[in-house]
Amino acid sequence: MTGFDQAELKLLTDLIQERFGLMFNGIRMEILESRLRPRLRELRLTTLRDYYHYLRFHPDREAEFARLPAMVTNNETYFFRETHQFDLLIHHVIPERRALLRDRPLRLLSAGCSSGEEPYSLSIALHNAGLPLAGMSWEIDACDLNPERIARAHEALYAESSLRACDAEARRRYFTQEAGGFRLKQKYREKVRCFPSNLLAPNGALGWAIYDAILCRNLLIYFSEDAFAAAIGLFARSLAPGGYLFLGHSESLLDRKTSFAPAMLGGAVVYRKLEAA
Ligand SMILES: C[S@@+](CC[C@H](N)C(=O)[O-])C[C@H]1O[C@@H](n2cnc3c(N)ncnc32)[C@H](O)[C@@H]1O
Repeated sequence: MTGFDQAELKLLTDLIQERFGLMFNGIRMEILESRLRPRLRELRLTTLRDYYHYLRFHPDREAEFARLPAMVTNNETYFFRETHQFDLLIHHVIPERRALLRDRPLRLLSAGCSSGEEPYSLSIALHNAGLPLAGMSWEIDACDLNPERIARAHEALYAESSLRACDAEARRRYFTQEAGGFRLKQKYREKVRCFPSNLLAPNGALGWAIYDAILCRNLLIYFSEDAFAAAIGLFARSLAPGGYLFLGHSESLLDRKTSFAPAMLGGAVVYRKLEAA
């Protein structure tokens, strides 16, 4: 239960869901409330209904919608999260697609990349796997709804919490310590292209049928059913034939009718785009 009028809160959360796919309940509702309060004060608005009307009808409504992602998203992430999936990519997906990769780079997408820890971890893993030595190149696209996080990804300057899974050796090898934190070394930033995009209204920056694998981890848990289905449809269109989708450990396509088939790789479930899709 929050301090806001519940009917007004529902108006607003329905609008957020429609635009961004995000659902709110329990603790997430309380976090949302605490983030909205200061914004209402800044705009000198009293009630959530006023804010709803602002978002619907004010001449500056699109600018306000552009600010919303920073208030309504959970951007929790860190380097080398669920790294076993990077091993699956390197030891199963890349060898399987090797013939295709003679003439073109490996293409990966990190959807919901937050401040870049996930795509940069991938880049480090590909370097460590010796892909450049084997003459293979790659491109990593990475997108997120929250433009503030994308700006941070471009800076590539990280606080201690982002490096919680990095030992002393990893910190030394991949980062340069500065007054403001740990800056990722340039070679791991090359070939990673981070840009803002809403998976529910992709802005054309995502490739069409080109990715060998898409990682979308710890995002779909926040999505409504409709948004979940729309995102999976987008991934099916964006993946090359036979491409793979990697989800977070608490996300699954099992028991859903989609254009993907579950595949066991190295003892883990991943999803492979069906040939007919
Ligand atoms: C919890 S973070 C996960 C980050 C990373 N994938 C990981 O697993 O560590 C979820 C990210 O999804 C992004 N997100 C939420 N809704 C989105 C949408 N509609 N389109 C694109 N990104 C979205 C959020 O901004 C947030 O940065």
